[in-house]
Amino acid sequence: MLLSGRGSNFVALAESVAAGRIPNAEIVLVVSNRENAPGLERARERGIAARVIPSKGLEREAYDRMVVAALEEVKPELVCLAGYMRLLSPYFVEQFRGKILNIHPSLLPAFPGLEAQRQALEHGVKFSGCTVHFVDETLDAGAIVMQAVVPVRDADTPESLAERILDEEHRIYSEAARIVLEGRYRIEGRRVILTSGKA
Ligand code: GRF
Repeated sequence: MLLSGRGSNFVALAESVAAGRIPNAEIVLVVSNRENAPGLERARERGIAARVIPSKGLEREAYDRMVVAALEEVKPELVCLAGYMRLLSPYFVEQFRGKILNIHPSLLPAFPGLEAQRQALEHGVKFSGCTVHFVDETLDAGAIVMQAVVPVRDADTPESLAERILDEEHRIYSEAARIVLEGRYRIEGRRVILTSGKA
């Protein structure tokens, strides 16, 4: 898992693994590019290896080579980004193509990038939500595995909307990770079609 901050999606995945909702899975490593990311402590208190690889001042690919080297030591089947505030270099994507997931707090392709919940409110949409997608070279643009819809309320602030979206993030990230790990999908163009068994 790669993260930069709070780590609530990491915790949700870790709890799903612990509860057997993602069978035969183990979170082998948490990497943060920020030393003070609360997610690191949350990993350590669960006995999960957590490493800081500081990104400050490093050029994108040089940094990604360090992260890829750390991942290669543990050989993950899946790399989950959860609040990881860096765009991956083509080098990184190539090393783990089709094996990187991200969660984004909007119904992509609406509102990619930062502050998606604020963007949704400012645009005036009546429904927003969250998206789990494969990561490719383009920001928030890879094939969509799963989405959940969250209605926008008239009284919403970016914070209140974000909070309700987060509940759905925690639910669908685990479901999507399970489907991908079990190989229960096939890809047709941009479409991720869910199947009943390994394709
Ligand atoms: C989430 O809203 C996620 O969708 C976005 O960044 C936030 C991370 O939250 N990419 P957390 O660190 O998982 O609590």
